[in-house]
Amino acid sequence: MTSAKISVGEKDYELPLVVGSENEVGIDMTKFRAQSGVISLDPGFGSTGSCQSAITFINGEEGVLRYRGYPIEDIAENASFAEVSYMLIYGNLPNKTQLEEFSSKLTQHSLIHEDMKKFYEGFPASAHPMAVLSSMVGSLATYYPEKDEDGFDLNIIRLLAKAKTIAAFAYKRSIGQPFIYPQNNLSYCGNFLNMMFAVPSEPYTVDPVLEAALNKLLILHADHEQNCSTSTVRLVGSSHANMFASMAAGICALWGPLHGGANQKVIEQLKYIQRSGEDLQKFVDRAKDKNDDFRLMGFGHRVYKNFDPRARILKKSCDQVLSKLGVDDPLLDIAKKLEEVALNDEYFVSRRLYPNVDFYSGIIYRAMGIPTNMFTVMFALGRLPGWIAHWYEMRQDTSTRIGRPRQIYTGPAARDFVPVAKRG
Ligand code: SDX
Repeated sequence: MTSAKISVGEKDYELPLVVGSENEVGIDMTKFRAQSGVISLDPGFGSTGSCQSAITFINGEEGVLRYRGYPIEDIAENASFAEVSYMLIYGNLPNKTQLEEFSSKLTQHSLIHEDMKKFYEGFPASAHPMAVLSSMVGSLATYYPEKDEDGFDLNIIRLLAKAKTIAAFAYKRSIGQPFIYPQNNLSYCGNFLNMMFAVPSEPYTVDPVLEAALNKLLILHADHEQNCSTSTVRLVGSSHANMFASMAAGICALWGPLHGGANQKVIEQLKYIQRSGEDLQKFVDRAKDKNDDFRLMGFGHRVYKNFDPRARILKKSCDQVLSKLGVDDPLLDIAKKLEEVALNDEYFVSRRLYPNVDFYSGIIYRAMGIPTNMFTVMFALGRLPGWIAHWYEMRQDTSTRIGRPRQIYTGPAARDFVPVAKRG
């Protein structure tokens, strides 16, 4: 099978097929409009590929997720977030020297310019940290060039290293506490926890349980091929906008409650269910009712029509982390019962709606002491290396064209302008 045939009216068109390394098949539509004058139309892009990529593979029917060929289950258990970031961006797991150099650079570049601290004074304390994160990441473009003489590598380091500082400073600003600076003797995750929870008046020791949990959470969120925010980063980057601007756009796309913002909504929904004291079936029934805009947040996925492997790992981690921390969170019990009720309901079963990455992640963030409005920021910190990897892959491919979809116009036909004095 090397080509596809499309008939438009009386004319047939033969189009080449593209077959990927995991035998996925795509019809190359590049020349179709020029040949036929006809476009494909696919709102939401459910059947449309935007690119070829060597970074992440998902088999939604079988619940498979691999970063550069490594199964998510293996790397979540055995790798560090720095290793996974390097591997996603540069293609392979780093050797010892490469990892040491990469980690050292991430440490060296963790500070933000002192003048950037003043930006926080302009935000109200109540500002949503995703608004702060996108603004501050975009503002990095006011301090650093579009690229250095050696290309994008230094900006990749700056972005990865400074994002966690920007995020922690946003939290400190929101609670009126002084900023805690990054410490060079701490890991990426340890540094973030220290910047979030240390206070000048007393020493803070990074809990290895929290550090390990954060490491796993960030790895599980690190990439997910052409999701809404990654596609946004690619589209913005295809105009050759700089890396900081492209990432700020990705952060904004992730913020939506249908995407990364779902992890905050899940916890808010579980708290609402808990307060109501109502039977869980009532909420499952509401989620099925087309006249009710209530949906089970953290459930369903465009690609996974089987368990999201990340949700499976996170569900297990919830039990492990909460018991190690001695935390008993009633919301976890509600989440597990809700999952059980939904997965035994024909509506969810027939639509193959399973818990996704956002369903359990918030339970662990809560146990770590991270406030609910910071949950999507945590998702963004994890997803940053994935966004960078896709942006970098696209910019390295000189054949990449600016993203510019077509449309089918449904508005009025040509008509004459009528001066306002003559309009009815
Ligand atoms: C992420 O793409 C990625 O990879 C994203 C992500 C990543 O790592 O980047 O995995 C992260 O964004 C996970 C998704 C987080 N969002 C949520 O949990 C929000 C709740 N989920 C839904 O809004 C929905 O499932 C989406 C947005 C995730 C997917 O939307 P689709 O693919 O457009 O599916 P759809 O809305 O067409 O739903 C198909 C059917 C519909 O019913 P019918 O029209 O067939 O009768 O399933 C129903 C939907 O009403 N449905 C739900 C539901 N999700 C889908 N019904 C109740 N509750 C839900 N959560």
